Amino acid sequence: ETKRLSVPDIRARKGGTPLVALTAYSALTARLVDAHADILLVGDSLAMVEHGMDTTLGATLDMMILHGQSVMRGSARALVVVDLPFGTYEESPQAAFRSAARVLSETGCSAVKLEGGAGMAETIGFLAARGIPVMAHIGLTPQSVMVLGGFRTQGRERAEWERIEADARAVAEAGAFAVVVEGVVEPLAERITAALSVPTIGIGASARCDGQILVLEDMLGFNPRVPRFVRRFGEVGAAIDKAVGDYAEAVRERSFPGPDHVYQPKD
Ligand code: KIV
Ligand code: NA
Repeated sequence: ETKRLSVPDIRARKGGTPLVALTAYSALTARLVDAHADILLVGDSLAMVEHGMDTTLGATLDMMILHGQSVMRGSARALVVVDLPFGTYEESPQAAFRSAARVLSETGCSAVKLEGGAGMAETIGFLAARGIPVMAHIGLTPQSVMVLGGFRTQGRERAEWERIEADARAVAEAGAFAVVVEGVVEPLAERITAALSVPTIGIGASARCDGQILVLEDMLGFNPRVPRFVRRFGEVGAAIDKAVGDYAEAVRERSFPGPDHVYQPKD
């Protein structure tokens, strides 16, 4: 029986072999990714990728729990982290605890992730002190898209660096076991990685982070368009289009089902 990676296992990877992280929203994809990844994130990006919403703001706690349960069933080795969705944790440490406790107890996952810097430090400490490991998420935080005015790279102006680095230090000092650093200019991501004693996991950040994460469907090439920071490691969308087109043609010309795909009586 394989043993699942633990929060301390991930924490101990600071400065070591880079952590491999990917999103997974269901047992189907978790099964494919589990053997390769250290961390599976049930990201609230599922609101956009899986449910067709324009932003992540529509993800609910019930959605996250349903997808988290599915990913736990489909994985055995990777650490599973579930995003706390917009509106379920920002109001108070107590609200965050209630949401996070539901996620951990109803899915069996190991940790939650929440967005925000210094302003979320108290909440991160509150959860960590009560048995809930927290992965932090700083830089470009998609749940703040309305305030940011779009999905914009952070730290293009050097004047922003101090604030963003202070956010990273604050969440780490509060007890986050790892920090996702999203959409920040490369040298700032490197500075943050050097400054923190816990692993940084980059996305649109730097190869010098302690690990990397991508949205699985983006790196697989499901979507015709992906952000610049994504490398398409596959062209699964094109493969599916071809397969489904071949099926449609076979049905229409009655070449499917063929002799191998139908049943005959015994006599
Ligand atoms: O929701 C998500 O997929 C994420 C990662 C991209 C970090 O938060
Ligand atoms: Na997210």
